[in-house]
Amino acid sequence: MNILVTGGAGFIGSAVVRHIIQNTTHNVLNVDKLTYAGNLESLASVADNERYQFSQTDICNREQLDQLFQEFKPHAVMHLAAESHVDRSITGSKDFIETNIIGTYQLLEAARQYWGGLDSTAQNTFRFHHISTDEVYGDLEGTDDLFLETTPYAPSSPYSASKASSDHLVRAWHRTYGLPVVITNCSNNYGPYHFPEKLIPLIILNALAGKPLPVYGNGEQIRDWLYVEDHARALYKVVTEAEVGETYNIGGHNEQKNIDVVKEICKLLEELAPNKPEGLNQYQDLITYVKDRPGHDLRYAIDAGKIERDLGWTPNESFETGLRKTVQWYLENTQWVEHVQSGAYQNWLQTQYK
Ligand code: NAD
Ligand code: TYD
Repeated sequence: MNILVTGGAGFIGSAVVRHIIQNTTHNVLNVDKLTYAGNLESLASVADNERYQFSQTDICNREQLDQLFQEFKPHAVMHLAAESHVDRSITGSKDFIETNIIGTYQLLEAARQYWGGLDSTAQNTFRFHHISTDEVYGDLEGTDDLFLETTPYAPSSPYSASKASSDHLVRAWHRTYGLPVVITNCSNNYGPYHFPEKLIPLIILNALAGKPLPVYGNGEQIRDWLYVEDHARALYKVVTEAEVGETYNIGGHNEQKNIDVVKEICKLLEELAPNKPEGLNQYQDLITYVKDRPGHDLRYAIDAGKIERDLGWTPNESFETGLRKTVQWYLENTQWVEHVQSGAYQNWLQTQYK
């Protein structure tokens, strides 16, 4: 198969690209604009593989998309490119509307035009896989209710509203034009190569630097955490095995309060990085409660029963094993971390291809 992956230089997209190149014989074209969140150093392990190609392209650029579809002739599209950080969407929503809504629209139209020109067998096997988030469902008030694929949409932030919009567009392109789509909505991911604006990598790196560990509000908010490589495996299963028109929720069965996540990271660091910054007694002493996020969703939790029943997918990592691996990865991959912190990762394209 030829698989066109958008956003393949991001956190989850790079895990998907590494998974496909390392575990299958398929070809991958990574289409990524390389915003601040795009990091080609996360793809160093596959960059020289002859089945991997990269194109620095904005998904809002229809002309360039059409050309890529004609040249690469994909059998499937896995669409991950997005603006993904809730806090950034609150301070500046424009890029979220442009990439997540207009970009998805442009990609759908490019895919529809290309798909319309295929013979009927190729049309039937083609897939447009839209990768979305559980945040489209809004938050759960109770302690034991779960998001199902049928839960009504009620997004809270500009980020989740823009992702909800894109989900609606993808469903409409299936219903109206027959484009063979599948949609997945996943819970919070964590793991290697995560940009340190998100909670888990931010806490690990701030703690190692002896900086405050910011906890929003009272820290009682709950997220359902999934190790990123488990997500990549689930996405590959969905794009290759799911029936057209299906939606799958993907989650880790790992509900945790934010404050407990932060404390767990501190505990792991006590064990794995006992040489603390000077003057610091315990990593936990760095915990600092800060102003809450506006519109902060209280609880997310996924019922991932459908993907288990239909496709036999379950996560390999528990939160305990996944978090330990993650902390270890940040301790061992100092060059990746340094380049992210200095901004040098953004020069990788020039230095690699000069
Ligand atoms: P990320 O922010 O790490 O990566 C996004 C990638 O998209 C980057 O490489 C960026 O350069 C690229 N991109 C942004 N705008 C683009 C544009 N206009 N054209 C082309 N490329 C562009 O995001 P992520 O955490 O890897 O998330 C990937 C997808 O998964 C997103 O659609 C997100 O909504 C969804 N998702 C994320 C999570 C999570 O916990 N991170 C959970 C569920 C779903
Ligand atoms: P985040 O990683 O931004 O993911 P999302 O908002 O998509 O769930 O945040 C995870 C949770 O951690 C969320 O409830 C907000 C909270 N949070 C903090 O308490 N402090 C922080 O510095 C960050 C970035 C997030």
